[in-house]
Amino acid sequence: MKILVIGCGGREHALAWTLARSPRISEVLVAPGNAGTATEPGVRNVAVPAEDLDALLALAQREAVEITVVGPEAPLVAGVVDRFRAAGLKCFGPDAQCARLEGSKAWSKAFMQRHGIPTAEHRTFTSLEEALAYLEQASLPVVIKADGLAAGKGVVIAHSREEGRRALHDMLDARVFGSAGAQVVVEEFLPGEEASFIALVDGDHILPLASSQDHKARDDGDQGPNTGGMGAYSPAPVVTDALTARIMDEVMRPTVSGLALEGCRYTGFLYAGLMIDPQGRPRVLEFNCRLGDPETQPVLFRLESDLFELIEAALDGRLDQASPRWHVQPAVGVVLAAAGYPGPYEKGTPIGDLPGRLPETVKVFHAGTTLADGRLVTSGGRVLCVVARGDSVVEARDAAYAVVDAVAWPGAHWRRDIAYRAVARERR
Ligand code: AMP
Ligand code: GLY
Repeated sequence: MKILVIGCGGREHALAWTLARSPRISEVLVAPGNAGTATEPGVRNVAVPAEDLDALLALAQREAVEITVVGPEAPLVAGVVDRFRAAGLKCFGPDAQCARLEGSKAWSKAFMQRHGIPTAEHRTFTSLEEALAYLEQASLPVVIKADGLAAGKGVVIAHSREEGRRALHDMLDARVFGSAGAQVVVEEFLPGEEASFIALVDGDHILPLASSQDHKARDDGDQGPNTGGMGAYSPAPVVTDALTARIMDEVMRPTVSGLALEGCRYTGFLYAGLMIDPQGRPRVLEFNCRLGDPETQPVLFRLESDLFELIEAALDGRLDQASPRWHVQPAVGVVLAAAGYPGPYEKGTPIGDLPGRLPETVKVFHAGTTLADGRLVTSGGRVLCVVARGDSVVEARDAAYAVVDAVAWPGAHWRRDIAYRAVARERR
């Protein structure tokens, strides 16, 4: 049967590549995909933008697609799942009501408050004057977030009041994020170590995927501006079995049952971005209604089970009977980005030939790539993600970096310290 993946990033290349290995799948369509999915066996790109819900629905009907899997948040928040369901088609993801968990930070924070889900103290503002007055007495650093979707750029950690004022003016006055910044959340800064906790949810049951950790800052040592993610690895050693149980009890179950109490049945991937404080307590930084990017690349690179069967079980409400198997080997993924990212960057930069044959334990996932006259060129900020497994985190990391050095084009930027926390733990 045919399956459709919506999106064009590294997460979607990893999804398409993983799904294409399922013996149950004859072909994976990707709308619109990238140069990586264009050349993946068993995968076909279709030039339909991820935001064009009408065209996506028409595509799924025309191609007799059995199941659609949504990669990015924008179509979920816009109601792609509602549209497909209304037409009698299976689409894996939360409906628009549930996707508010990611689509509105103000709604999401209020929801957490209503259901006692641990998160930073916060206030929500639409008035610049009131926000500025609150800022004057807030302790520093303070975190300022645009309410709506801002492609990962809507969060400012202000270390001074001047920085905070600028962020509030940018969002509420200059509207640099458009209507996404018409409302802002101002919240307490939480110290600790971040982890990404992602689960499959079928409305009733919650099945956690392998844990992972992202690297949000652009530069080594977690310096520089925030990005969508410069690399990730799985598992995240900070997420012990005991902490997993706690996250399930304090975050994941209350979230899914709280939504149900409010009349919203959550299906799809549910991602809790967590801060683990020095006492080992988890608190929610944000919810995403989808898989993480780049977390998906190392996480799915460790999945031994059939992803299609897991998604099918989720759509059928049978996740309680599923138990995915994971490679014991850790996986490390390193993102190569265009010069300038996350600020303005050039597109169309040629990328040299990628290695033709790689061992089974290494994979180059594409993100912002396209083919121009048959040549591979950049088309986005995050361009490639090299993922490798190894017997230790150090081995996985070294295997990934050996290929990074081989595929880097002039001007490419990447962090050289991905997985540093896990490496330090391994050394201890
Ligand atoms: P978010 O999109 O809400 O996850 O924010 C993006 C990044 O900003 C997170 O991954 C954290 O690194 C950082 N961040 C967000 N909220 C907080 C907070 N309350 N305290 C500390 N760091 C935060
Ligand atoms: N890597 C973080 C995210 O996908 O939101």
